[in-house]
Amino acid sequence: MNILVTGGAGYIGSHTCVSLIEAGHTPIVVDNLSNSSEESLNRVARITGVQPVFYKGDVRDEALLERVFSRHAIGCAIHFAGLKAVGESVAKPLDYYGNNLGATISLCRVMCAHGVKRLIFSSSATVYAGDNELPLRETSRTGDCSNPYGWTKYMGEQILRDLTVSDPEWSVVLLRYFNPIGAHPSGLMGEDPTDIPNNLMPYITQTAIGRRPHLNVFGNDYPTPDGTGVRDYIHVVDLAKGHVAAIDYLCSHTGAEVFNLGTGKGCSVLEMVKTFEDANGIPVPYRIAPRRPGDLAEFYADPAKSLAVLGWQTRHDIGDMCRDSWNWQSKNPKGYRE
Ligand code: NAD
Ligand code: UD1
Repeated sequence: MNILVTGGAGYIGSHTCVSLIEAGHTPIVVDNLSNSSEESLNRVARITGVQPVFYKGDVRDEALLERVFSRHAIGCAIHFAGLKAVGESVAKPLDYYGNNLGATISLCRVMCAHGVKRLIFSSSATVYAGDNELPLRETSRTGDCSNPYGWTKYMGEQILRDLTVSDPEWSVVLLRYFNPIGAHPSGLMGEDPTDIPNNLMPYITQTAIGRRPHLNVFGNDYPTPDGTGVRDYIHVVDLAKGHVAAIDYLCSHTGAEVFNLGTGKGCSVLEMVKTFEDANGIPVPYRIAPRRPGDLAEFYADPAKSLAVLGWQTRHDIGDMCRDSWNWQSKNPKGYRE
C-alpha cells in the first residue's frame, strides 16, 4: 500500500519508513526538513534498498498535498510532522499551535477531498494528566497539560475524534508514545538533535562522546526506588513496528481508537546511566542537579490493549536501547551532518 508519511525524514518517521518497506508498503514522504535532514532517507535506502519518494514541503501547504494525492494512490497516512520541543513550545506557543494543529487540519482536509479516510496520528503520553494511578491505561484521565506542546497533542486527538464522529467512514488510530530512544541496529539511522538535547538519551550519548562534560540528573529526591525520575523507554524500532501493526487495524475498522506504545516497564535515570555504562563500557559522568520544572516522578504504560488488539509488543530491552543509541552516536558523531 502507498502510505503518506508526513515528517518521514524525522527520527521516528525515518525508522517507520524502514519498517513499512520491510512489511511490503511504499512510503511517500512529505517533510519540510525543519528538524531533520534528507540524508535520513538515503539511509533508509541503504538499509532497505528502496529510496522513499520525497516531497520537500510543509504539510500546511494544501496545494502541495493536492499534488501528492493526485500523483499517488494513497491508502492511508501516518502523521508524524510536528514540532516537539517542550521548552520551545512555552516560548513560542503560536508557532506550536499553528504548526501542529494547522498541519493536522490541512492534511485531513486534503484527505477528505481525495476520499482517503485512514490516518495514524503521533500522540504522546504527555496527554495523560499527572494524577493518574500507574500504569497508564488508554482510559486514564487526560488533560491538564503542562505546556503548549502537550496541548497540541491533546487537541489534535480531539480534532480527529470529532472528524470520525462527523463522517463514519473515517478510521483514526491515535498512538500515544512513551519515551522513544535507541536507533536502528545498523548504526545508519538514529536521533539527531540540532540543539542541546533536552531528552535523557541524547544527552547521555553526547556526554559519553565528550560533547558535554557531564549529565545533569534532574532530582534524586523523588518517591522512586533510587530517587530519580522513572520513565517507560521504548526502542524506536519497536515503536516503528507498532505503526505497521496499526495499519492492519486501521484498514479493518472505522472510528477513532487510542493505543499506548510503551513497554510497561519503568526505568530510572540512574538505572539508565548504569545500563549504558555496562552495555558499552563507557563512563557517563553525572552530577545531581535540581528537579526540572514540570517533571513527574514516574510514569509508564499499560501496553495490554496494544497486545490484545494490535498483536504488538516490544522486543528490545534497555540494554539494546543503550547499545543501539551508542552505536549510532559513535559512528555518526555529528549525526547526519558529516
Ligand atoms: P522529529 O522532529 O525528528 O520529526 C518530525 C518531523 O516533522 C521532522 O522531520 C520535521 O522536519 C517535520 N515537520 C515538522 N513540522 C512540519 C510541517 N509543518 N510540515 C512538514 N514537515 C514538518 O520528531 P520525532 O521524534 O520523530 O517525532 C515524530 C512525531 O512523534 C511528532 O509529532 C512528535 O510530537 C511525536 N512524538 C515524539 C516523541 C519523542 O519523544 N520523540 C514522543 C511522543 C510523540
Ligand atoms: C519529555 C517531555 C515530554 C515528551 C517526552 C518525549 C518535558 C518536561 N517533557 O518527557 O513532553 O513527551 O520528553 O520523550 O520535557 N533527565 C535528566 N537529565 C537530562 C534529561 C532528562 O535527569 O539531561 C531526566 C528527566 O528528569 C526525566 C527522565 O530523565 O526523569 C526522562 O527525561 P526526558 O527524556 O526529557 O523525557 P520526559 O521527561 O519523560
